[in-house]
Amino acid sequence: MEKKWWHNKIAYQIYPKSFQDTNGDGIGDLKGIIQHLDYLQKLGIGILWISPVYVSPCADQGYDIADYYQIDPMFGTMEDMEELLKEAKKRDINVLMDLVVNHCSDEHEWFQKACQNPEGEYGKYFYFAKKENGKLPCNWRSYFGGSVWEPLPGTDWYYYHSFHKKQPDLNWENPNVRQEIYKMMNWWLEKGLGGFRVDAIINIKKPLPFCDFPADRTDGTCDMSVVVNHARGVGEFLGEMRDETFQKYNAFSVGEVFNEKEEELSDFMGENGYFSTMFDFSQTNEGKSPKGWYDSKIPTVDAYKKCCFNSQRKAKGIGMYSNIIENHDEPRGVSYYLPKAGRNDKGKKLLGTVYFLLKGIPFIYQGQELGMENMTFTDIDQIDDISSIAEYEECMRVGLTKEEAMKVISQYSRDNGRTPFQWDNTENAGFTTGTPWLAVNPDYVRINAKAQEENPDSVLQYYRKLSALRRKPEYEDALIYGEVEPYMESEEGLMAYYRRGEKQDFLIAGNFTEEEKKIYVDDTKEKEVVLTNDQVEWKEKELILKPFQVAVLRCQKGN
Ligand code: GLC
Ligand code: CA
Repeated sequence: MEKKWWHNKIAYQIYPKSFQDTNGDGIGDLKGIIQHLDYLQKLGIGILWISPVYVSPCADQGYDIADYYQIDPMFGTMEDMEELLKEAKKRDINVLMDLVVNHCSDEHEWFQKACQNPEGEYGKYFYFAKKENGKLPCNWRSYFGGSVWEPLPGTDWYYYHSFHKKQPDLNWENPNVRQEIYKMMNWWLEKGLGGFRVDAIINIKKPLPFCDFPADRTDGTCDMSVVVNHARGVGEFLGEMRDETFQKYNAFSVGEVFNEKEEELSDFMGENGYFSTMFDFSQTNEGKSPKGWYDSKIPTVDAYKKCCFNSQRKAKGIGMYSNIIENHDEPRGVSYYLPKAGRNDKGKKLLGTVYFLLKGIPFIYQGQELGMENMTFTDIDQIDDISSIAEYEECMRVGLTKEEAMKVISQYSRDNGRTPFQWDNTENAGFTTGTPWLAVNPDYVRINAKAQEENPDSVLQYYRKLSALRRKPEYEDALIYGEVEPYMESEEGLMAYYRRGEKQDFLIAGNFTEEEKKIYVDDTKEKEVVLTNDQVEWKEKELILKPFQVAVLRCQKGN
């Protein structure tokens, strides 16, 4: 594998609105990010992805962009952005912006012009259609519920949106649209970005002409994953985008790609792939039902492990996935994947370790390094997220009680990951001196950065060790480039694997149960425990893992 500058980096995602407010308006801002760059440096971060900060009416928290060339005043100014890039660079941190180009905002100038004349030049930037024989062009269901077709008031036109109705899809079949997008990307790359996180990119190719697919809900609509599976030829757009943008700047790109086809994986993230890497979402998708959250199941530890190992097998010899346990679209990983008995600091370190040391780029989502947990929502009024609101409505439609529905929402809501960052135990967790735009999780008195800074056994301090371990140049052959080889794979409640290097191997073994597990280790001459969340105990050649213990062993190669 040809070495790339980003292979040994650790990435961090900031959700700007919830990271740090500096002017008391209750909304996190760019100055707040600059203020904490030293904190990120101390965590060993080399790539920093910031969720959208462009001008946006915020129907979907900035994922609906009205001007790609301006910073939204709520986040600061272009000068702030430039300062952020400069200060990050000083600390060897490469900043990624979010590239949201499957759609823009309905308040974007292009869409405004398109609405005036759906058959004109700008109409061709989007998808407009009329009913034929009283029927819409297709029965697809947008990700946030309801038809993908929205009537254009005062006309008999409809426009297409894969997500919210305030997020009309851009028509990538139109070469002018593609050129506008590449121009914008290069403008940002010229400013010194390290690259982009590429939003919802699989949706840019539609299976055309529009047609119905079998319905999976009683309202006659069908899930978007079916639609994506029918689309062919997205690679032509993505290859062009790579050549016109990323490649010229040796930029890093990480794709948010769902429903990727296995045979296309090397085109997507192999040598000279469309992207440097892609997120592995196999575990976040596991158990999700097309019917909605109320019908979904949280994966067991064994299902979680299976997802991770399957993805590793697929990527073997091809490239590196980006590994996560959460992001701004997911509940908190520790509240989701850990069995109840393990939802404590020990379990948090365990989960943190087993995903972090898989082959790929580890991404940490803000607050994950503190072990931030889900919120308990008891009323839909506490929720801001549009997808949670749509899911709540679906719960009501199928007859759940309010209490049942709120239990579902508390488990899956994207707002779990969007509550403000917990800096300290002062009011509003030190996030703002004003009123936070979304309530702070009351557990901030217990879980916060300041307390963890002072406690050598905290989750934060553990993440720092984990990060240092992966960045050790002497371990690179195994921890960066070594393949993953699952170990004792059929043992329930255990997730163990080797990372096989040229000079050394590492064994990562984590016990997700309340009983001891014995791990037989003898294929090496010398072994050394380089990280663990508990005392290590051996019985001859067996490593005894206590409940929720994880251990990372470095094994010298034999002669
Ligand atoms: C991606 C983003 C999500 C957003 C959606 C539409 O999935 O991560 O937050 O709602 O795209 O842009
Ligand atoms: Ca602010």
